[in-house]
Amino acid sequence: MLESIATRMARLGFVESAVEDILQLRPFTFRRAIHQPAYRRRWKKHGPLGLAVAFFLLQESLSLEDLRRLLDDESIAALHLQGFLEPNRLGIRCKVDLYPCLGKYFFTDSAFEVEPWPEQVYWLGGDSYTLAYCTPRRSYARALDLCSGSGVHALLAGCPALGVDINPRAIEFGRLNAALNGISQVEFAQGDCCSAEGTYDLVTLNPPFVPTPEGVAELYRTGGGNGEGVTERVVRRLATWLNPGGLFSMATEAPDGALQRMRRWLGSGWGLAELRKFEFPIEEYIFSNILSSGTPPDQQEAEYERWLDTYEDHNIQKMVSAQYFAVRLAPGVPDWEHSLEIGHPSGPPSEADWSLWLNEK
Ligand SMILES: C[S@@+](CC[C@H](N)C(=O)[O-])C[C@H]1O[C@@H](n2cnc3c(N)ncnc32)[C@H](O)[C@@H]1O
Repeated sequence: MLESIATRMARLGFVESAVEDILQLRPFTFRRAIHQPAYRRRWKKHGPLGLAVAFFLLQESLSLEDLRRLLDDESIAALHLQGFLEPNRLGIRCKVDLYPCLGKYFFTDSAFEVEPWPEQVYWLGGDSYTLAYCTPRRSYARALDLCSGSGVHALLAGCPALGVDINPRAIEFGRLNAALNGISQVEFAQGDCCSAEGTYDLVTLNPPFVPTPEGVAELYRTGGGNGEGVTERVVRRLATWLNPGGLFSMATEAPDGALQRMRRWLGSGWGLAELRKFEFPIEEYIFSNILSSGTPPDQQEAEYERWLDTYEDHNIQKMVSAQYFAVRLAPGVPDWEHSLEIGHPSGPPSEADWSLWLNEK
């Protein structure tokens, strides 16, 4: 039954570029709850496609009549069975988000939750799209997606894959999204990222990367005091997972110098690439994280000081948003590394870009 939702959305043309055109926002992952009134003026002019944006990405309530313009009865019943529909005085609201990404669809918890909670399943953010777009779409025999969240990267791998996440609710969403997209060759297992076994040609990772002081609980976000608690453990284990010639693909935000730290953690036998999107001054970075964590206004200043102390303790002066690759080189091939500026990707690059990024002649 779930598949009927994906089929209907594909038929409507609910894809990234259409959402961005309707919201007049590129990338649309930069939408903010506070701008809701402005978005409302935009989606209303767009018929059923506008209704899809409103219902699945803006948490707008629709009348039953409008919901029936958007979805057939089978799809409405499927959403109801999942417990995703909430009737209220304005109509019916969808409690979860639905994201289009590279021709597939992904349910997640809502990006507009006023108060985040520890097991909230990460929505598809700019980091998720960066990893989805930048990972070369080639033929892999088997893929491992660590910190899988909604399951997006395991389900885009196009081969038998394993998704691993510490959050049991993320595992439920991974399985649900597999069913939504009619994919049966991907499995999901709950556990720590480093509990994964086996060997693979592709390992993807969008880790929890935000450097945070003690007591910040959201699993999708907190990367420990230096932000690299998960990243460092995964990178240090890559040689046990990746076959020679295999590729590690990671989107993250990290204190400046990540490429050099990756080289230190991996040693020799690897080609490393950094594709830099943009940099954040730490004051701005900290403040946007405090605002998005639902900290009450009267506590924001004290919280800001607490975060700033953590960043000073770890000597973090700048955060860099970037995509990284590590290629496991065949014996005898010299190490290489490079860093390029790419900006925020607005779609998958060409095969020529991938060759350049991966240093292929
Ligand atoms: C930034 S989200 C990325 C989700 C998804 N991969 C994406 O790109 O949209 C990070 C994910 O890491 C998971 N996580 C946090 N700590 C973990 C750990 N130690 N082992 C495995 N997963 C972990 C969180 O539950 C969350 O789903």
